[in-house]
Amino acid sequence: MERVYDWSREEGVKELDPTPLDPKLELRDSLRLGHISDTHLGKKPVGPRERELRRWLETFIGLGVDAIVHTGDLLEIPDDEETIEYAFSLFDDLSVPLYGVPGNHDVQQPATPGEVTRRWGPFPRSVTLRGLRLWLLDSMAWPPADARSERERQSAQDSGFYSRGALGPSQLDELKQLMEEAGAAKGPEIAVVHHHLRQPVPPKPWFEQNSDLMAPLNDGDDLVELLRERGVQLILHGHRHQYVIPYAPFDDLLMINAGSSTPGASPRRARVIDVPLMGDHLRIWELIRF
Ligand SMILES: [Fe+2]
Repeated sequence: MERVYDWSREEGVKELDPTPLDPKLELRDSLRLGHISDTHLGKKPVGPRERELRRWLETFIGLGVDAIVHTGDLLEIPDDEETIEYAFSLFDDLSVPLYGVPGNHDVQQPATPGEVTRRWGPFPRSVTLRGLRLWLLDSMAWPPADARSERERQSAQDSGFYSRGALGPSQLDELKQLMEEAGAAKGPEIAVVHHHLRQPVPPKPWFEQNSDLMAPLNDGDDLVELLRERGVQLILHGHRHQYVIPYAPFDDLLMINAGSSTPGASPRRARVIDVPLMGDHLRIWELIRF
């Protein structure tokens, strides 16, 4: 099933009646993105998570996306070579480009890029697709393990992954420099990062009990300032397996919290986003599986 939302700076978020709308028909003169997140692929043998990811990719291709974005936590446990090889092989035959950013489950040592970060990276960087620019960011780049809390380090020892995220001062500086070099935006721009920037809804009990570990991106305010200055329209993020409808804590910057595309999450979610190359209107087709 689908839910459909429109957003523009003038009118904010509006939910549309999906009945007369056909998801196969994208908005005129727009670019269509598929957004998936938090797939948490396990070690081999192949299980339901891999099958579900293949299904989402097929759905995206069937809906005619121009590119796919994965907002992190591709894997459940970082740095198992065989799993990484297998996970990336799922994208080998895709007919459209796929861009990803590392999540906290993808990185063994924060501030030290592992294999997933190397394969998705480098970060920060931007890619342009027919006039749409994506800013790809690494929210596991900072802080290093020894600057994290005792509780987070203990939790990482038990679970195999760290939790919190930040871009860090050098990535923010580099991003600023890249934005200057790119000149004024000539089309729509979107930022892609794993960690959430806001807590838009009251957290589920687990998040409440672990709010120190599940905190928003530590330097999110600095990032938001840079993005708003540049006129970036949208931030796509994952990490919080708790979907909320697209939200705009600032009128000029929409945020989409992915929810989870993984079996076990109920419902599972992914979405297709139509980004017109002129103007600031977006259409979001929220795809929901129970
Ligand atoms: Fe995460």
